[in-house]
Amino acid sequence: MQNHLLKLKEQVLAAIAEAREGKSLRALEIEYLGRKGRLTAILRGLSDVSEQEKKIVGQLANQIKNDLSAAFRQAEEVFSGQAGKNPSFDVTLPGQAGARGHFHPLTIVLEKLEKFFISLGFLVLDGPELESDYYNFTALNIPPFHPARDMQDTFYVQPIAQQAVGQLVMRTHTSPMQVRAMQKYGAPLRVVVPGRVFRFEATDTRHDTTFYQLEGLMLDRDISLANLTAFMKLMLSAVMGQELNIRVRPGYFPFVEPGLEVDMSCVLCGGQGCPSCKQTGWLEMIGAGLVHPEVIKAGGLDPEIYSGFAFGIGLDRLAMMKFGINDIRLLRGAHLPFLEQF
Ligand code: DAH
Repeated sequence: MQNHLLKLKEQVLAAIAEAREGKSLRALEIEYLGRKGRLTAILRGLSDVSEQEKKIVGQLANQIKNDLSAAFRQAEEVFSGQAGKNPSFDVTLPGQAGARGHFHPLTIVLEKLEKFFISLGFLVLDGPELESDYYNFTALNIPPFHPARDMQDTFYVQPIAQQAVGQLVMRTHTSPMQVRAMQKYGAPLRVVVPGRVFRFEATDTRHDTTFYQLEGLMLDRDISLANLTAFMKLMLSAVMGQELNIRVRPGYFPFVEPGLEVDMSCVLCGGQGCPSCKQTGWLEMIGAGLVHPEVIKAGGLDPEIYSGFAFGIGLDRLAMMKFGINDIRLLRGAHLPFLEQF
């Protein structure tokens, strides 16, 4: 009995799908659901079956009757041109918007930096994250066994074919791209290199084993510290969206001479002094300097002819300052309630 009913339902649905006009629909409806229709006949015949079966079959038959009636109504609406005009369905209501994605805070500051440097004629380059010991250190005037290597806690990687490439490291900074870019493009040269860098460090709110830097290099005749400081002030103001002051202090990096630490006036207190800048009014942001003659030589160029400035800036710290983020690890946490704030 049940199978019979289900088959009947399929038949009617198929017939509805094939109907080409309202008239044949109505005939179909009378044939099956009308007072003398086939489904009605089945329901009438229920008086012959047992009480138990009556209950089950009766329920199914009613369900099918309702489904079919609904299918007839829907098909009729199509033929009468009423589909979609049902007053209980307002087609002018706004649809359901899909969730929209947005940029990660690191991407936001990176895009601002790239835009700034592209507008000044710089190339944006990519470099390898798995780097040779040579480019990461030696070519940057940090020879093996020099104590300056201790400044950066390094992940050394066992190469598969040691003889072929020498010792490998996860790059500790983006600076190795200075020499790679000089070798590839020569001078004059203006490049920035954003990218991920790695340090073997204990993590806390301000340190992570993985973070982002942007390296910059400008090489030409007669490049001086005046060029460097002007670029740094403009760059920081562009990213932060407000006019900022900078100050420079001596700093030691083996690949520049002189080497500088560049501070920017605190964006939170405008230089007045607050807990974020430890009451100094200044925030340490950038390592920079004039490219060391040994590095220019490693790049295959003549330091008697060319001079340049280089700098490295931490994108995580920049994003933290710009958006008031107090833990660097949040930037790699893939934590949606955090990320959805930007
Ligand atoms: N590579 C340095 C670091 O990661 C930052 C740096 C300092 C980059 C001075 C430079 C520079 O280009 O001139 O700590």
